[in-house]
Amino acid sequence: MMNTQLYNEAENASLVQWVHEGVYDQIIILSDANTHGFCVPVLKKIIPYFANSYSIVIPSGESNKQLDVCHHVWQQLFQYQATKHTLLINVGGGMLSDLGGFVASTYKRGVHYINIPTTLLAMVDASLGGKTGIDFEGIKNAIGTFQHPKQYM
Ligand SMILES: NC(=O)c1ccc[n+]([C@@H]2O[C@H](COP(=O)([O-])OP(=O)(O)OC[C@H]3O[C@@H](n4cnc5c(N)ncnc54)[C@H](O)[C@@H]3O)[C@@H](O)[C@H]2O)c1
Repeated sequence: MMNTQLYNEAENASLVQWVHEGVYDQIIILSDANTHGFCVPVLKKIIPYFANSYSIVIPSGESNKQLDVCHHVWQQLFQYQATKHTLLINVGGGMLSDLGGFVASTYKRGVHYINIPTTLLAMVDASLGGKTGIDFEGIKNAIGTFQHPKQYM
């Protein structure tokens, strides 16, 4: 399931226009193992503008909303030479948008991100409100930041 807005041509055009008009030097798509397979190909098909973006893929599930997975994403961002002007697009459910938002809010003291929510919970709750975070030593959402996505999808 993808956010149905993505199937609206006018919305797609305005998303592309917004990205295009931004100051972004690069777009990087963060997804988990499931959304990488099910959702990112759909996103790239309906918005070809994103087709050549780098991808970072993390394992799916709450048990991966952890610091070591953030470490992996930060490493990948450095490998792709992401700068303060890189846009991170989080494609996934609440686990992905929480972790992706946290990584974005801390990488180089904060880069812009947007969420493309792919679960109902993420569409109505987790992708909104700017609460980012990860679990730590068994405590849910123990470490995190408040940083709003740059744009709401
Ligand atoms: N930041 C907030 O305000 C806020 C609010 C509520 C919940 N949350 C967080 O949200 C998380 C739960 O989110 P969730 O319920 O979306 O779970 P999730 O992100 O873990 O997704 C559940 C599973 O569905 C898969 N999936 C996601 N989209 C899919 C798709 N379109 N097709 C096939 N598989 C798909 C994922 O890979 C995962 O395996 C929790 O970590 C919770 O703390 C955050």
